[in-house]
Amino acid sequence: MLRNIGLMRRRPPAFLAQCAERYGPVVRFPMPRSEVWLLSDPNDVRRVLQGNHKAYGKRTIQYDTLALVTGSGLLASDADLWRRMRRVMSPGFHHDLVASMATAVHEACVAWMGRVPVEGTATELDLDAAMLELTLDIVAATLLGGPLAGRADELVGAVMAALHVVVAKAQQPLPIPESWPTPGHRRLRRSLSVLDAAVDDVIATRRAGQPGTDTLWLLISALDEGLASEQEVRDEVVTLIVAGHETVAATLTWSWMLLAAHPEAEQRVHAEVDALPEPGSEGWDAGVLELLPYTRAVVDECLRLYPPAWVITRRSLESDVVGGFELPPGATVILSPYAVQRDERWWPSSEEFDPERFFGDRALAETGSGPLTYFPFGAGPRLCIGRDLALMEAPMVIAAVARALRVRPRQPRAIREDFGVTLRPKGGLRAVLTWRR
Ligand code: HEM
Repeated sequence: MLRNIGLMRRRPPAFLAQCAERYGPVVRFPMPRSEVWLLSDPNDVRRVLQGNHKAYGKRTIQYDTLALVTGSGLLASDADLWRRMRRVMSPGFHHDLVASMATAVHEACVAWMGRVPVEGTATELDLDAAMLELTLDIVAATLLGGPLAGRADELVGAVMAALHVVVAKAQQPLPIPESWPTPGHRRLRRSLSVLDAAVDDVIATRRAGQPGTDTLWLLISALDEGLASEQEVRDEVVTLIVAGHETVAATLTWSWMLLAAHPEAEQRVHAEVDALPEPGSEGWDAGVLELLPYTRAVVDECLRLYPPAWVITRRSLESDVVGGFELPPGATVILSPYAVQRDERWWPSSEEFDPERFFGDRALAETGSGPLTYFPFGAGPRLCIGRDLALMEAPMVIAAVARALRVRPRQPRAIREDFGVTLRPKGGLRAVLTWRR
């Protein structure tokens, strides 16, 4: 481990894959006073996330540090609190309701295209930052019941600054108590107070509006009915913002990078989207997704190669037997979608971008009870609540943007990966947009 510390920091999943290759599907790291296990067999992954999920909880360094920002929202909470809040929020993500959000997603895209710099104007932009801006607008329009009225920049800035501190904290060899006034902790506290003020504002504005089916309205109703506290509502709103925009933005940015690096794939996307109406005209609802099988496969393949949630952790609550080994209670379990989804045994020519893999049965790798070789959204009861939304949103955005604009990232093949809270392109993605005529 000491010899590999450089690799561990630079490309943690490559380090994990190397451990699995050398020592097998169950690896216990030689750490003093703590049990840390890496599981890389897709059957074991399925067992931890689904088959025997009751034996595992989320009190790991990954989720405890994230909770410094999100509080005990759905992503980081456990047990009764998680069950109660998941029940409150689930109706907001019902399949039909998500389908009805497609128009709002499209409108946000059209508004975004109306204000981004396109050729002749400011030319180059950071596409990653532009995607973050767009996906935050979409979270606001679909889940929070309306636009963020001037608070978007503040929210994104505060979330990013806070997450930055959290990642640095999670990577420290020795934990530093939050009460210590380190520069990082001071920055975290400042970002959290900006975030909290902005979130309070968003909640108050929504409360003054009309009742709706959006998740924020469900949360406010739960508060009024005594089913949730004010702090719990705040934590869920922050969780929706954190979990709901950066992940989709990363998926979109990586997709643009992949399409630019594979012109034949880009041409197929263009052929599909050119059959659609002009962005902003009638007909841009969930029905268009049926006309976009290849574009959807691009998103699936992008999530295989660049899963934003590149690592998922659990803590064992009781002993379990995995891969023939007895895992003790209290162990940290590491699962890596990135490492499993690039394993040659389950994904031949795994480093190649080939959306056609997702035509036919392969799309079923995620569902059912077989080996879990594809899990960008997790699996089992803790499956991402926003999965359907993300899988509607990403193809809708790609379709609307690719219909109107050509996206030209600078040196798409030279982009490096940054393994933070989510997997993002290091330093953003410089790109030029031009109109397609
Ligand atoms: C491409 C986009 C996305 C990816 C790759 C992704 C990935 C994931 C993964 C892997 C988990 C499970 C973590 C675990 O088991 O420990 C998760 C959970 C979650 N995601 Fe997503 N997500 C995405 C989009 C969204 C969106 C749009 C939302 C909108 C609100 C969202 C909200 C959540 C929440 C609240 C949870 C916790 C669910 C629970 O435990 O009940 N995600 N996500």
